[in-house]
Amino acid sequence: MVDLIAYIDQMPKAGETLEADDFAMGCGGKGANQAVAAAKLGAEVLMMSRVGDDGFADNTITNLQTYGVDTRHVTKVANVSSGVAPIMVDRQSQNRILIIPGANKHLLPVDIDAAADDLRACRLIVLQLEIPLPTVYRAIEFGNQEGIPVLLNPAPASPDLDLAYAARCDFFVPNETELEILSGMPVATEAAIVAAAQSLMPRGFKHLIVTMGDSGTLYIGPDSSFRVPAPTVDAVDTTGAGDAFVGCFAAHYAAGSDIRESIENAVQYASHSVTGRCTQTAYATREAFDEWLARA
Ligand code: RIB
Ligand code: NA
Repeated sequence: MVDLIAYIDQMPKAGETLEADDFAMGCGGKGANQAVAAAKLGAEVLMMSRVGDDGFADNTITNLQTYGVDTRHVTKVANVSSGVAPIMVDRQSQNRILIIPGANKHLLPVDIDAAADDLRACRLIVLQLEIPLPTVYRAIEFGNQEGIPVLLNPAPASPDLDLAYAARCDFFVPNETELEILSGMPVATEAAIVAAAQSLMPRGFKHLIVTMGDSGTLYIGPDSSFRVPAPTVDAVDTTGAGDAFVGCFAAHYAAGSDIRESIENAVQYASHSVTGRCTQTAYATREAFDEWLARA
């Protein structure tokens, strides 16, 4: 996805034309953001996605390569647009995102099998919902068959997600909104979030990790549950904070950290990410992140 971000005072109402204070264009997309976050933290990352044959395609691929992401499975699809995301960020640093998936819709279940040899080398498979659900399901099956842990970040929220497949993932990482849609329960308070998350567990979920913005993260697992609070930061742009969380969690977990340590790092990393504009360019490198942690 290419992000077209407008910085505005307040969201426009229906029929209203507003002038934005500023604009930024950047490489985004949930999967790509997560891949870049992990790569910036030193992980070896293999990305699978599709781009169109428009002006955004080459730039998207080159951008990933700049961060050292392996793009052999990021290929072009003829006659479709690349994914584009017009985004509005208001004074409270809250965002509204519209996504046009374009070529992302063309990543198919057969592509997972075609990449099997390369995927087998992975320590963790990380999925989001910006590609077709059947492809997500095939990747989950593949991970299960091969004994590779699978993390599913069910974003953007989709009421169509089959929870039986979601429960087959080792890590399920929704935010509050996604949890609300998938559990059908309110998430207005922290107690409500805990209840909504607990309601999913009887379906067979293993490790449930709910990201709650500046309220931190909730973990519910087979042996323990805990909450990791987020540090207070000056937020500028919260776009892609959830992706920073997932990328950092993945990088730490794949490198051998336990779940708690991976979550603690991810909460800090996501909090740091909101202090800068855009997504990937705001993510800290390993060195910058360690420095930031040392100062906190
Ligand atoms: O999660 C943030 C991302 O969502 C943005 O980068 C945008 O591309 C959308 O996919
Ligand atoms: Na940001």
